[in-house]
Amino acid sequence: MAQPLRAAITGMGYSVPKRVMHNSEFEKFLDTSDAWIAQRTGIHTRHVAGPDESTVTLSLDAAKAALADAKIAPEELDMILVCTVTGEMPFPATACFVQAGLGIKNIPAFDIAAACSGFVYGLSVASKFIETGAYKKILLIGAETLNRFSDYTDRGSCILFGDAAGAVVLEPTTDLHRGVQYTGLYCDGSGWDLINIPGGGSRHGTSHETVDARMHYVKMSGREVYKFAVEKMQGLLGECMEKCNLTVDDVDMVVPHQVNIRVIESAMSKFDFPMEKVHVNIDRYGNTSTASIPLALTECRDMGKVKAGSTIIMVAFGAGLTWAGGVVRL
Ligand SMILES: CC(C)(COP(=O)(O)OP(=O)(O)OC[C@H]1O[C@@H](n2cnc3c(N)ncnc32)[C@H](O)[C@@H]1OP(=O)(O)O)[C@@H](O)C(=O)NCCC(=O)NCCS
Repeated sequence: MAQPLRAAITGMGYSVPKRVMHNSEFEKFLDTSDAWIAQRTGIHTRHVAGPDESTVTLSLDAAKAALADAKIAPEELDMILVCTVTGEMPFPATACFVQAGLGIKNIPAFDIAAACSGFVYGLSVASKFIETGAYKKILLIGAETLNRFSDYTDRGSCILFGDAAGAVVLEPTTDLHRGVQYTGLYCDGSGWDLINIPGGGSRHGTSHETVDARMHYVKMSGREVYKFAVEKMQGLLGECMEKCNLTVDDVDMVVPHQVNIRVIESAMSKFDFPMEKVHVNIDRYGNTSTASIPLALTECRDMGKVKAGSTIIMVAFGAGLTWAGGVVRL
């Protein structure tokens, strides 16, 4: 019988665009204020991709950092997964560009589109490939350039988003207490209309009319998404602890999708999670969608907040509507 395996995170890295945009910049062209944005979301600044940056350039920088951290060469990879809903082009998959950028060929490379839940979906997919023994070294990237799709005339959504990429390398371990311990993935497609980009797909192909109607930008019902986010973040936290028999004391760090500081604080208060055990960086990066968890995870590790043996819960939710949670031991 094959030896049981877990998928361990052996390397991590992230990349953000050079340009930092402060809330006060929005005051110049929108009826908003630095104080409103900071108080309602927790965001002060975000990084915004410039003309020479894209989902692929950020992905490649994050991937190279994660590969160096794992001490493996691109040629050793068996698979590349990129989680994104702001891909380089409608097709081919962004993962194909990343493969070419790393100078390798012939290994599978594909995208996963689960919006802000993407990275946890990807972690689940990658860990199953490793646990079955089918693949050994998988590069998993969460990357997003939502500012390319933000409607800078819509103060209810454009103030939220930041651009970034985060990457991890996953490899098999026979130590069953290490690596991905649990993932739970969910979707309620009937909520598709709460957050989407309606134009440019098969339903509304690109035309002068779709451009004039601003259909190529993010449309969002903020208040409804907010309620959904609080409910799902609480549910996922409880589920992750129950499935892995964890108490609050057993958890070293929660790395939540960086959606809104108020959402994160209300979810944590349900379980009396001390905020010192919750990594928050939304103040500096905004909501970077699927990049937010691998970015926060890497930052947490670099700051010494987590290390080998730490137990981490990840929780995310986003367009779809999708939501997903996972437990990882480093
Ligand atoms: C978008 C969000 C910040 C809005 O905050 P909120 O407290 O829910 O605010 P509401 O939408 O209820 O709006 C309250 C008022 O503020 C106004 N407002 C909205 N955006 C504003 C802005 N940037 N500046 C000033 N006022 C703003 C609204 O027009 C509304 O005014 P009204 O009462 O006169 O109608 C919040 O709902 C949110 O973070 N939702 C989650 C969205 C998300 O993260 N989506 C990504 C998917 S993971």
